[in-house]
Parts: sequence; structure tokens; C-alpha cells
Amino acid sequence: MGKKLAVLEIINTLTGNSHQSLKAKVFNDSVHGHIEFHPLLVMIIDTPQFQRLRFIKQLGGGYFVFPGAAHNRFEHSLGVCYLAGKLVRSLQRNQPELEITDKDILCVQIAGLCHDLGHGPFSHLFDLFFIPKVRPDFKHKHEHLSVLMFDHLIEENHLEAKLKENGLDGEDLLFIREQIEGLPKDSSQKQNDDVWLYKGRGREKSFLYEIVANKRNGIDVDKWDYFARDCLNLGIASSFDHKRYMKFARVIEVDGDKQICSRDKEIGNLYDMFHTRNNLHRRAYQHKVNKIIETMMVEALIKADPHLRIFPGANGRKLTMSESLDDMHAYTHLTDSVLEHILFSQEKDLKESKDIIQKIFTRKLYKCVGQTQPTADTELEKPLEISKAICLAVSEEELKGPQLDSDDLVVHVVKMDYGMGNQNPVDYVRFYSKENSNTAIKIGKGEVSQMLPENFLERYIRVYCKNRDAENVAKAERCFAEWCDKKKFSKPKPGNFLDTAMTLVKKRPRDGTCGPSEGPKKSKKILGNTYKGM
Ligand SMILES: *[C@@H]1O[C@H](CO)[C@@H](O)[C@H](O)[C@H]1NC(C)=O
Repeated sequence: MGKKLAVLEIINTLTGNSHQSLKAKVFNDSVHGHIEFHPLLVMIIDTPQFQRLRFIKQLGGGYFVFPGAAHNRFEHSLGVCYLAGKLVRSLQRNQPELEITDKDILCVQIAGLCHDLGHGPFSHLFDLFFIPKVRPDFKHKHEHLSVLMFDHLIEENHLEAKLKENGLDGEDLLFIREQIEGLPKDSSQKQNDDVWLYKGRGREKSFLYEIVANKRNGIDVDKWDYFARDCLNLGIASSFDHKRYMKFARVIEVDGDKQICSRDKEIGNLYDMFHTRNNLHRRAYQHKVNKIIETMMVEALIKADPHLRIFPGANGRKLTMSESLDDMHAYTHLTDSVLEHILFSQEKDLKESKDIIQKIFTRKLYKCVGQTQPTADTELEKPLEISKAICLAVSEEELKGPQLDSDDLVVHVVKMDYGMGNQNPVDYVRFYSKENSNTAIKIGKGEVSQMLPENFLERYIRVYCKNRDAENVAKAERCFAEWCDKKKFSKPKPGNFLDTAMTLVKKRPRDGTCGPSEGPKKSKKILGNTYKGM
């Protein structure tokens, strides 16, 4: 590799192509190996707005539970860009009639590269829990911030001219934004069989919108990269092989749209893909310690927000975290590092926030009281209402003392699904057969196996206690049990029963001691799920 690159360097010098910004670059990625990027992509990568992603943990609080989950949005974004290129190029090769141009490929790759530019500190914790609390007026998720940051990145680094040199115009920029954010939600018209609302590309290229963020069924290269990357870093096995899936991807016209379809015999692998996704949620993303650490982090950030006016905005004004959502100059500086800012600050106003962060670092976490599974058809109240009801479930007389304070309880309603609520996403995928490779068909779950899920959505209610005092926790346990009983929900169980073995834990690659005799139970311990204090 090194020698080849040296030769390439000499050729480039001789042909006058040696200008720094015009070079393709090779990255050695831990998931995909050596991947090569077009110079235009490299120019986007080498900007402060993109480099910022190096300082945002992919799994937020997950790193505080799984010591390997230290990967960041930066490498994930490179991976998505690479996979997007792979998929669209393979379609271009296999189906020349689709008339995929090199410009189309670049646009899809740029969208893949930039789709997560708008994430805030600790990824989803920020857009799902922090933003709604401090900025209820701000109705957007990180995808919208990604588009704002993308525009800012282009402007700040004067890349518009460079894009033009490569043939990319305003329409292409629109196409990139549409791939990242989808259609505006408040649009009065709905896209259907008769209406095509995207403006960057026409309907004959509708399949290009299904590569980076597939709104139709959730099967996209973003998931493929994070499955592979998260599994690698968490030490969880993935049974889904995206390379195989790509070989069978084929564009077929369905009701006027050109859809990415798959081969009929691959349907089992698709169910495996959603199984892997569910497995990651159970074992890692919704892990009870992960979730409570994230809750504590959000509390700390909310308390700190008004007192942390440190992010330099457009005209030198210093902004808070919540204000920085409207100013990409300031938002560029907002990363996981905010936690250390708070921790190292000596400001009195930040003390409360600092105390919470110190509790996280010294593992004095809110104590999990237990979890229950509500009956499927029960309408659930808001978590705050549930806390209040739990506190009132046992009277003062019965408790022989004061009732719990609902401010002491944290209630989480955890939803598990296949990405589409109670629907089966595979019902939204079309397939082709060996004989009829240009006809898209539906395949029902029943035709695949009798052993696939009946339900595609389940919920859990988890209760935590802020005050870890044994007497207080015992009181909370009693109230929660009583409440579940009244509601006819399952008896609360302690510990992590969400992650009951659904798939074996992967044999650790670099650990010679982890032989085949070692069952999933023992490996699980290595992964740090059994923190004694919890
Ligand atoms: C690329 O990285 C892998 C580890 O991810 C390493 O084993 C390999 O030696 C690296 N290759 C080169 C050429 O540096």
C-alpha cells in the first residue's frame, strides 16, 4: 500500500495533480478496512465543522457501561459515506439503464458523510432529551441541524466553488439536503403514487433517496454501518451481512417509483437485520445503567445551560447551549467536551450540575428499583404522572411513615420495536425472484417461517430512585410493586431482564482466553453489565 501511494504521489506530481486539496485519500477503518475517498469528500472531511464529530460519542452514555463503546460520530460518518458509495456504484454497474451518473454518486456520498453533522453532545441524548426540555419551541431533530451545519460548512470553507468545479450545482445541494432531512413534515401535500415532492432528483431516480436514510422501510447504509461498528465495539455478534445484501439489491419500478428491492431468498437475512437491531437496543442502547446515566447527564446539562455562556457565535457574542441551536458558529464548538467544562469550572452557579456529573464519575447512580411490562393495549400516562401514581400507591399508614416524593423517582417508558412502531418493516420491502428479476413482489411473514415475531412493539416501564438510601429504595420497591399489581402489569423484576440471551455474545477477537467452552453468561460479565452497585 505504502509503495503504491508513493508511486501515485510521483505520478500526481508529474501530471501536476499534486495540489493538496485535489488528492483522493485512503483511510484504514476498523470496520471496512482500507477505504478511498474522492478529493471533494476529503475537502469536506478536513473542515472544523466535520472534525467536530471526533468529539461526539456514537453511543452517548454507552461508553460508561461498555468500555469498548468509545467510538465517535466521525468514523461512523466515514463508514456511511463509504457504504453509500459501494451500494450506489454496484447499482450503477449492474443496471446501466438506471443512468446513474458520477455526480449522483458524489451527492449520495456527501449526504452519507454529512447526515450526522448536526448531532450534539453524546448524540441522541441531546436531540431527544435535552433540546425538548430547554427549547420546546425547537421542533427539529438532529437531521435538521445536520442540514444547517452542512450549509454552514460549505459557506465557511468556501466550498461552493469547489463543488461547482466538480459539476455540483444548486439542485445537487438540494438533493443532498433532501437525502439527509427528507421532506418537510408540515408540508400540506403528501407524497403518494401521483405526487413526487422531492426537487433535487426526479422520480426516475427515486431509489437514490433510499440509500442514506430510507424512509420507506428503514433499510439503509446508515444502519449497516452502525450495526457493524457498534457490534464490534460492544462485543456483540451481528448476524446480518450487509455485503451480501448489497449483492442482491436491485432497482425495480413499483407504482411509478423506482424502489430498491431484494432477492426473495434474502428475506430471512432481512429479519436477521431487524433482529440484530433489536438485540443492540436490548443489550446496549436501552441498557438500564446506560439510560440512567444519560438521564443524569441531561439533568446536569439542563441545570448548567443558563450559566454556561461560553460558545462563541456569529458576531463574537457568547451563547448558551440552547441558544447555539440557532447559530452554527456556536454549535460547532458544542461537543461532549461540555461535560469537562462543567466539571472543571469553579462557578458557584454550576455547582449543582457539577455534583451530578461527579456522581456519574464516582458511580453513585440513581438506583434501579425494577421494571414491569404493561399490557399491550394499555394507554400509558406521561412518566411524570406515573411517578406520582406510584408514590401514592401505598398509604402513609401502611408505610408507617411519609410517602415517597415523586421528585425522587425517575420513570422511563422504554419502547422496543422494529423501527416502525407496531408494524413489520419487512412488509414494506419488495422482492424479485430468479426467474422474474424485473417484477417486484410482496412476501408475507407466514411464507418465511413460523418462528418470526407476532408483535413488533413492546414496552417496559422502569423505575429508578435518586436517593439510594436502603430504606428509601425499599419503600420505592414496595410502592412500585403495589402500583403494578393494581394495574395488572407484570410483577416488577430487578436487574437487566431486557437483555436476556437472544443471541450469543461474540467471542472476543483479541482475547485468547475466551475459548468456546465459555458460555454467554461469563462473556456477558466481561462486558460490564454486572456492576455490583446497581
Ligand atoms: C489497518 O488497520 C488494521 C486494524 O484495524 C491493522 O490490522 C492493519 O495492519 C492496518 N493496515 C495498515 C496497512 O496499516
